[in-house]
Amino acid sequence: MSAQIIDGKGFAARLRNNIAGQVQRLTAEQDVVPGLAVILVGEDPASTVYVRNKANAATAAGIRSLERRLPVDTSQQDVLALIDKLNGDPTVHGILVQMPLPAQIDSAAVIAAIDPAKDVDGFHPLNVGQLATGLPAPLVPCTPQGCILLAKSIAKSLAGQDAVVIGRSNIVGKPLAQLLINESATVTVAHSKTRDLPEICRRADLLCVAAGRPGMVRGSWIKPGATVLDIGINRIVGADGKAHLVGDVAFAEALQVAGAVTPVPGGIGPMTVACLLLNTIRAACAIHRLPEPMIAPAMLG
Ligand code: GUN
Repeated sequence: MSAQIIDGKGFAARLRNNIAGQVQRLTAEQDVVPGLAVILVGEDPASTVYVRNKANAATAAGIRSLERRLPVDTSQQDVLALIDKLNGDPTVHGILVQMPLPAQIDSAAVIAAIDPAKDVDGFHPLNVGQLATGLPAPLVPCTPQGCILLAKSIAKSLAGQDAVVIGRSNIVGKPLAQLLINESATVTVAHSKTRDLPEICRRADLLCVAAGRPGMVRGSWIKPGATVLDIGINRIVGADGKAHLVGDVAFAEALQVAGAVTPVPGGIGPMTVACLLLNTIRAACAIHRLPEPMIAPAMLG
């Protein structure tokens, strides 16, 4: 058996196109140009690439992009002052502070300082609480949102599915579990202390892996026909001496067992960026008291 390779890159490109159309309409009909501010503190190479990708994707969709790069030794006070300024800037509808932050900065304090209406990461406690209580239309974290869209491109409904999420971070694992509960899946959240992880994974109709360990999930851990979402992005040096990106799932093995599997790169990663753009226009519409953006329902599952 050879699994379907889920084309996250293609799905994300169609979603971004759709968003670009909405941005054009907002600009032409409402005179609203959505604005996204992305803050990077320090020069972590992976974060620098992510931030550049986000800013380029925003610009390509017609969203006004502001990149604010701060030195690695920036004080918490200075980050909070910048957020305060962006909170008060009417041309900015979305604010994202790239994580992780340097040790001298308290990330919880930074997240709490962002206006919840502009919190396009969905990390603010108010948005986290809204998601947890199942309230409609909060700003939902981008990677989990992308996972749900791809899972629903494979199975129309996730209701009753056994879903296993490996990883319990605030950025991916926890919000993904919440979204899956809201989709009426039966959800298990596994992590580094979980006993007999392979056995738990073998129960999963939907296996979502955000462990940060290259190739950790083996083919023998996967239920035949399951959908596998690989959220890991690991840089490893291959036998050829060159750096490669690999996921948390042993991809070639997964292809032999799963029904559908996301590749790395080209799976979840591009969806994260597309969902950030979606959150930005959602935030812009909500701030200007305009109706929710009309993204084709077929796109959104
Ligand atoms: N670092 C890794 N993923 C993310 C994300 O989705 N948002 C932010 N702000 N930082 C991240």
